[in-house]
Amino acid sequence: MKNKIATIGIIGAGQMGSGIAHVCALHGIRVLLNDVTLERVQAGLATVDGNLARQAASGRISEEERKAAIGRIAPCMSYEELAEVDLVVESATESEVVKRKIFAEICPLLGPDTMIATNTSSLSITRLAAATDRPERFMGMHFMNPVPVMELVELVRGIATDDATFDLAKSFVAQIGKKAAVAEDFPAFMVNRILLPMINEAIYVLYEGVGSVEAIDTAMRLGANHPMGPLQLADFIGLDTCLSIMQVLYEGLADSKYRPCPLLVKYVEAGWLGRKTNRGFYDYRGPKPVPTR
Ligand SMILES: NC(=O)c1ccc[n+]([C@@H]2O[C@H](COP(=O)([O-])OP(=O)(O)OC[C@H]3O[C@@H](n4cnc5c(N)ncnc54)[C@H](O)[C@@H]3O)[C@@H](O)[C@H]2O)c1
Repeated sequence: MKNKIATIGIIGAGQMGSGIAHVCALHGIRVLLNDVTLERVQAGLATVDGNLARQAASGRISEEERKAAIGRIAPCMSYEELAEVDLVVESATESEVVKRKIFAEICPLLGPDTMIATNTSSLSITRLAAATDRPERFMGMHFMNPVPVMELVELVRGIATDDATFDLAKSFVAQIGKKAAVAEDFPAFMVNRILLPMINEAIYVLYEGVGSVEAIDTAMRLGANHPMGPLQLADFIGLDTCLSIMQVLYEGLADSKYRPCPLLVKYVEAGWLGRKTNRGFYDYRGPKPVPTR
Protein backbone atom coordinates (compact mmCIF):
# COMPACT_ATOMS: atom_id res chain seq x y z
CA MET A 1 0.00 0.00 0.00
CA LYS A 2 1.19 3.60 -0.69
CA ASN A 3 2.61 5.66 2.15
CA LYS A 4 1.79 9.05 0.65
CA ILE A 5 -1.54 10.31 -0.63
CA ALA A 6 -1.40 11.94 -4.08
CA THR A 7 -5.11 12.00 -4.95
CA ILE A 8 -8.10 12.08 -2.63
CA GLY A 9 -11.82 11.77 -3.24
CA ILE A 10 -14.04 13.70 -0.82
CA ILE A 11 -17.73 12.83 -0.60
CA GLY A 12 -19.83 15.65 0.79
CA ALA A 13 -18.86 19.24 0.00
CA GLY A 14 -20.49 20.82 3.07
CA GLN A 15 -18.65 22.71 5.78
CA MET A 16 -16.36 19.79 6.62
CA GLY A 17 -15.82 18.31 3.15
CA SER A 18 -14.92 21.72 1.69
CA GLY A 19 -12.54 22.36 4.61
CA ILE A 20 -10.81 19.00 4.08
CA ALA A 21 -10.54 19.79 0.35
CA HIS A 22 -8.99 23.18 1.19
CA VAL A 23 -6.30 21.72 3.47
CA CYS A 24 -5.46 18.78 1.18
CA ALA A 25 -5.14 21.04 -1.88
CA LEU A 26 -2.86 23.45 0.00
CA HIS A 27 -0.63 20.49 0.81
CA GLY A 28 -0.25 19.45 -2.83
CA ILE A 29 -2.90 16.72 -2.96
CA ARG A 30 -5.22 16.49 -5.97
CA VAL A 31 -8.85 16.57 -4.79
CA LEU A 32 -12.01 15.21 -6.41
CA LEU A 33 -14.95 16.81 -4.60
CA ASN A 34 -18.35 15.14 -4.74
CA ASP A 35 -21.85 16.01 -3.51
CA VAL A 36 -25.41 15.19 -4.51
CA THR A 37 -25.66 18.12 -6.93
CA LEU A 38 -23.14 20.21 -8.87
CA GLU A 39 -24.58 23.30 -7.13
CA ARG A 40 -23.53 21.91 -3.74
CA VAL A 41 -20.03 21.14 -5.04
CA GLN A 42 -19.82 24.64 -6.47
CA ALA A 43 -20.96 26.13 -3.15
CA GLY A 44 -18.20 24.11 -1.42
CA LEU A 45 -15.65 25.34 -3.96
CA ALA A 46 -16.81 28.94 -3.45
CA THR A 47 -16.22 28.52 0.31
CA VAL A 48 -12.71 27.18 -0.33
CA ASP A 49 -12.05 30.01 -2.78
CA GLY A 50 -13.15 32.65 -0.25
CA ASN A 51 -11.16 31.13 2.60
CA LEU A 52 -8.00 30.76 0.49
CA ALA A 53 -8.37 34.39 -0.63
CA ARG A 54 -8.60 35.46 3.03
CA GLN A 55 -5.46 33.47 3.86
CA ALA A 56 -3.62 35.05 0.91
CA ALA A 57 -4.81 38.56 1.83
CA SER A 58 -3.49 38.16 5.38
CA GLY A 59 -0.13 36.84 4.11
CA ARG A 60 -0.52 33.33 5.60
CA ILE A 61 -0.15 31.85 2.10
CA SER A 62 1.26 33.34 -1.09
CA GLU A 63 -0.79 34.21 -4.18
CA GLU A 64 0.95 31.33 -6.04
CA GLU A 65 -0.03 28.86 -3.28
CA ARG A 66 -3.63 30.08 -3.42
CA LYS A 67 -3.84 29.67 -7.18
CA ALA A 68 -2.14 26.26 -7.15
CA ALA A 69 -4.44 25.01 -4.36
CA ILE A 70 -7.69 26.03 -6.06
CA GLY A 71 -6.38 24.47 -9.31
CA ARG A 72 -5.96 21.10 -7.56
CA ILE A 73 -9.67 20.74 -6.69
CA ALA A 74 -12.01 19.37 -9.34
CA PRO A 75 -15.75 18.68 -9.05
CA CYS A 76 -16.56 14.96 -9.27
CA MET A 77 -20.13 14.13 -10.25
CA SER A 78 -19.64 10.45 -11.00
CA TYR A 79 -18.24 7.84 -8.64
CA GLU A 80 -16.41 6.20 -11.60
CA GLU A 81 -13.87 9.04 -11.35
CA LEU A 82 -12.87 7.76 -7.90
CA ALA A 83 -11.20 4.69 -9.44
CA GLU A 84 -7.80 6.42 -9.38
CA VAL A 85 -7.80 7.94 -5.89
CA ASP A 86 -5.54 6.73 -3.04
CA LEU A 87 -7.98 7.69 -0.30
CA VAL A 88 -11.69 8.45 -0.06
CA VAL A 89 -12.84 10.63 2.83
CA GLU A 90 -16.58 10.35 3.31
CA SER A 91 -17.88 13.58 4.86
CA ALA A 92 -21.56 13.46 3.94
CA THR A 93 -24.49 14.18 6.27
CA GLU A 94 -24.31 12.48 9.68
CA SER A 95 -26.71 9.63 8.91
CA GLU A 96 -25.87 5.96 8.91
CA VAL A 97 -28.35 5.31 6.10
CA VAL A 98 -26.73 7.98 3.89
CA LYS A 99 -23.19 6.76 4.61
CA ARG A 100 -24.00 3.06 4.06
CA LYS A 101 -25.58 3.87 0.69
CA ILE A 102 -22.47 5.82 -0.36
CA PHE A 103 -20.16 2.92 0.61
CA ALA A 104 -22.33 0.40 -1.26
CA GLU A 105 -22.14 2.55 -4.38
CA ILE A 106 -18.43 3.48 -4.34
CA CYS A 107 -16.81 0.21 -3.20
CA PRO A 108 -17.17 -1.71 -6.48
CA LEU A 109 -15.59 1.22 -8.34
CA LEU A 110 -12.53 1.85 -6.14
CA GLY A 111 -9.07 0.34 -6.67
CA PRO A 112 -8.49 -2.69 -4.43
CA ASP A 113 -5.93 -0.84 -2.26
CA THR A 114 -7.87 2.38 -1.87
CA MET A 115 -8.39 3.31 1.74
CA ILE A 116 -11.73 4.70 2.94
CA ALA A 117 -12.00 7.06 5.88
CA THR A 118 -15.19 8.41 7.39
CA ASN A 119 -15.39 11.82 9.02
CA THR A 120 -18.36 10.73 11.14
CA SER A 121 -18.63 12.58 14.45
CA SER A 122 -20.15 9.72 16.35
CA LEU A 123 -21.15 6.58 14.44
CA SER A 124 -19.50 3.20 15.04
CA ILE A 125 -16.45 2.81 12.80
CA THR A 126 -16.67 -0.97 13.06
CA ARG A 127 -20.32 -0.95 11.92
CA LEU A 128 -19.64 1.44 9.02
CA ALA A 129 -16.56 -0.62 8.04
CA ALA A 130 -18.76 -3.72 7.87
CA ALA A 131 -20.89 -1.94 5.26
CA THR A 132 -17.87 -1.84 2.91
CA ASP A 133 -15.97 -4.54 1.01
CA ARG A 134 -12.73 -3.56 2.81
CA PRO A 135 -13.14 -3.27 6.60
CA GLU A 136 -9.37 -3.72 7.02
CA ARG A 137 -8.73 -0.60 4.89
CA PHE A 138 -11.36 1.49 6.65
CA MET A 139 -10.89 4.00 9.50
CA GLY A 140 -12.44 6.93 11.29
CA MET A 141 -10.69 10.21 10.51
CA HIS A 142 -12.51 12.82 12.53
CA PHE A 143 -11.57 16.36 11.48
CA MET A 144 -12.43 19.40 13.58
CA ASN A 145 -14.38 22.43 12.41
CA PRO A 146 -13.18 24.71 10.79
CA VAL A 147 -10.72 22.30 9.18
CA PRO A 148 -8.25 24.93 7.88
CA VAL A 149 -7.89 26.32 11.42
CA MET A 150 -8.12 23.35 13.80
CA GLU A 151 -5.02 21.24 14.25
CA LEU A 152 -6.51 17.99 15.51
CA VAL A 153 -7.68 14.89 13.67
CA GLU A 154 -9.04 12.07 15.85
CA LEU A 155 -8.05 8.69 14.41
CA VAL A 156 -10.32 5.77 15.18
CA ARG A 157 -9.66 2.19 14.17
CA GLY A 158 -12.47 -0.26 13.64
CA ILE A 159 -12.04 -3.77 14.96
CA ALA A 160 -10.80 -4.97 11.54
CA THR A 161 -8.54 -2.00 10.59
CA ASP A 162 -5.08 -3.32 9.71
CA ASP A 163 -1.77 -1.75 10.77
CA ALA A 164 -0.85 -0.58 7.24
CA THR A 165 -4.12 1.40 7.05
CA PHE A 166 -3.59 2.92 10.49
CA ASP A 167 -0.01 3.89 9.54
CA LEU A 168 -1.20 5.44 6.28
CA ALA A 169 -3.81 7.46 8.19
CA LYS A 170 -1.16 8.71 10.62
CA SER A 171 1.21 9.70 7.81
CA PHE A 172 -1.64 11.41 5.89
CA VAL A 173 -2.50 13.51 8.95
CA ALA A 174 1.17 14.61 9.17
CA GLN A 175 1.27 15.18 5.37
CA ILE A 176 -1.53 17.78 5.66
CA GLY A 177 0.07 19.50 8.65
CA LYS A 178 -2.31 18.22 11.33
CA LYS A 179 -1.80 16.39 14.64
CA ALA A 180 -3.48 13.08 15.46
CA ALA A 181 -5.03 11.83 18.70
CA VAL A 182 -6.01 8.17 18.74
CA ALA A 183 -9.38 7.18 20.18
CA GLU A 184 -11.05 3.82 20.62
CA ASP A 185 -14.24 3.08 18.70
CA PHE A 186 -16.81 4.21 21.29
CA PRO A 187 -19.84 6.41 20.57
CA ALA A 188 -18.65 9.96 19.69
CA PHE A 189 -14.99 9.07 20.42
CA MET A 190 -13.20 11.58 22.70
CA VAL A 191 -13.75 15.20 21.68
CA ASN A 192 -17.52 15.00 21.12
CA ARG A 193 -18.12 12.65 24.06
CA ILE A 194 -16.83 15.46 26.25
CA LEU A 195 -17.94 18.53 24.25
CA LEU A 196 -21.51 17.65 23.21
CA PRO A 197 -22.91 16.86 26.68
CA MET A 198 -21.65 20.32 27.70
CA ILE A 199 -23.42 21.94 24.74
CA ASN A 200 -26.59 19.90 25.45
CA GLU A 201 -26.45 21.04 29.10
CA ALA A 202 -26.14 24.66 27.95
CA ILE A 203 -29.34 24.15 25.89
CA TYR A 204 -31.07 22.71 29.00
CA VAL A 205 -29.94 25.79 30.95
CA LEU A 206 -31.60 27.92 28.25
CA TYR A 207 -34.71 25.66 28.12
CA GLU A 208 -35.20 25.82 31.89
CA GLY A 209 -34.83 29.62 31.82
CA VAL A 210 -31.73 29.71 33.99
CA GLY A 211 -30.10 32.15 31.58
CA SER A 212 -30.57 33.79 28.18
CA VAL A 213 -28.53 32.85 25.08
CA GLU A 214 -26.29 35.84 25.64
CA ALA A 215 -25.91 35.22 29.38
CA ILE A 216 -24.98 31.55 28.90
CA ASP A 217 -22.39 32.29 26.22
CA THR A 218 -20.92 35.22 28.15
CA ALA A 219 -20.79 33.09 31.31
CA MET A 220 -18.78 30.34 29.62
CA ARG A 221 -16.49 32.72 27.72
CA LEU A 222 -15.62 34.89 30.69
CA GLY A 223 -16.22 32.39 33.49
CA ALA A 224 -14.58 29.29 32.03
CA ASN A 225 -12.25 31.04 29.56
CA HIS A 226 -13.79 29.27 26.55
CA PRO A 227 -12.99 31.02 23.25
CA MET A 228 -16.69 30.92 22.25
CA GLY A 229 -19.89 30.25 24.17
CA PRO A 230 -21.52 26.79 23.94
CA LEU A 231 -24.63 28.05 22.07
CA GLN A 232 -22.51 29.98 19.58
CA LEU A 233 -20.45 26.80 19.15
CA ALA A 234 -23.61 24.70 18.65
CA ASP A 235 -24.72 27.06 15.84
CA PHE A 236 -21.27 26.74 14.35
CA ILE A 237 -21.24 22.91 14.44
CA GLY A 238 -24.83 22.70 13.12
CA LEU A 239 -27.77 21.84 15.39
CA ASP A 240 -28.68 18.78 13.29
CA THR A 241 -25.15 17.43 13.78
CA CYS A 242 -25.33 18.21 17.53
CA LEU A 243 -28.64 16.34 17.80
CA SER A 244 -27.35 13.31 15.87
CA ILE A 245 -24.32 13.09 18.16
CA MET A 246 -26.48 13.29 21.31
CA GLN A 247 -28.78 10.57 19.93
CA VAL A 248 -25.79 8.33 19.24
CA LEU A 249 -24.46 8.91 22.78
CA TYR A 250 -27.92 8.33 24.30
CA GLU A 251 -28.56 5.13 22.40
CA GLY A 252 -24.98 3.86 22.24
CA LEU A 253 -24.21 4.28 25.94
CA ALA A 254 -27.79 3.67 27.14
CA ASP A 255 -27.47 6.35 29.81
CA SER A 256 -30.19 8.98 30.42
CA LYS A 257 -27.57 11.64 31.13
CA TYR A 258 -27.14 11.94 27.33
CA ARG A 259 -30.85 12.66 26.63
CA PRO A 260 -31.01 15.35 23.90
CA CYS A 261 -32.61 18.54 25.21
CA PRO A 262 -36.19 18.90 23.83
CA LEU A 263 -35.36 22.47 22.79
CA LEU A 264 -32.53 21.18 20.57
CA VAL A 265 -34.99 18.71 18.99
CA LYS A 266 -37.49 21.54 18.40
CA TYR A 267 -34.92 23.80 16.72
CA VAL A 268 -33.88 20.99 14.38
CA GLU A 269 -37.54 20.21 13.58
CA ALA A 270 -38.02 23.90 12.73
CA GLY A 271 -35.05 23.74 10.33
CA TRP A 272 -33.13 26.21 12.51
CA LEU A 273 -29.78 24.50 12.16
CA GLY A 274 -27.40 27.32 13.10
CA ARG A 275 -25.09 29.28 10.85
CA LYS A 276 -25.66 27.12 7.79
CA THR A 277 -29.36 28.06 7.70
CA ASN A 278 -28.77 31.60 9.04
CA ARG A 279 -30.77 30.83 12.17
CA GLY A 280 -30.14 28.84 15.31
CA PHE A 281 -29.59 30.17 18.82
CA TYR A 282 -28.60 33.35 17.01
CA ASP A 283 -30.18 34.99 13.97
CA TYR A 284 -27.48 35.62 11.35
CA ARG A 285 -29.59 37.41 8.78
CA GLY A 286 -28.57 40.92 9.81
CA PRO A 287 -25.14 42.56 9.97
CA LYS A 288 -24.54 41.13 13.49
CA PRO A 289 -25.72 37.83 15.06
CA VAL A 290 -28.74 38.50 17.30
CA PRO A 291 -29.61 36.10 20.18
CA THR A 292 -33.06 34.57 19.64
CA ARG A 293 -33.98 33.97 23.32
N1 LIG B 1 -19.93 20.23 11.65
C1 LIG B 1 -18.95 19.84 12.43
O1 LIG B 1 -18.50 20.57 13.34
C2 LIG B 1 -18.32 18.48 12.21
C3 LIG B 1 -17.08 18.21 12.79
C4 LIG B 1 -16.47 16.97 12.55
C5 LIG B 1 -17.11 16.02 11.75
N2 LIG B 1 -18.34 16.30 11.23
C6 LIG B 1 -18.98 15.27 10.39
O2 LIG B 1 -18.72 15.59 9.04
C7 LIG B 1 -19.80 15.10 8.23
C8 LIG B 1 -20.35 16.24 7.39
O3 LIG B 1 -20.80 17.27 8.25
P1 LIG B 1 -20.92 18.79 7.78
O4 LIG B 1 -20.88 19.62 9.01
O5 LIG B 1 -19.97 19.08 6.66
O6 LIG B 1 -22.42 18.78 7.21
P2 LIG B 1 -23.05 19.67 6.04
O7 LIG B 1 -24.51 19.57 6.20
O8 LIG B 1 -22.41 21.02 5.97
O9 LIG B 1 -22.58 18.88 4.71
C9 LIG B 1 -22.96 17.59 4.39
C10 LIG B 1 -22.96 17.47 2.88
O10 LIG B 1 -23.15 16.09 2.53
C11 LIG B 1 -23.89 16.09 1.36
N3 LIG B 1 -24.46 14.78 1.09
C12 LIG B 1 -25.53 14.18 1.66
N4 LIG B 1 -25.74 12.97 1.09
C13 LIG B 1 -24.76 12.80 0.18
C14 LIG B 1 -24.46 11.76 -0.76
N5 LIG B 1 -25.19 10.67 -0.84
N6 LIG B 1 -23.39 11.92 -1.55
C15 LIG B 1 -22.62 13.03 -1.49
N7 LIG B 1 -22.88 14.05 -0.64
C16 LIG B 1 -23.94 13.94 0.18
C17 LIG B 1 -24.95 17.18 1.57
O11 LIG B 1 -25.53 17.57 0.34
C18 LIG B 1 -24.10 18.26 2.22
O12 LIG B 1 -23.56 19.16 1.26
C19 LIG B 1 -20.80 14.48 9.20
O13 LIG B 1 -20.56 13.10 9.31
C20 LIG B 1 -20.47 15.19 10.51
O14 LIG B 1 -20.85 14.45 11.64
C21 LIG B 1 -18.95 17.52 11.42
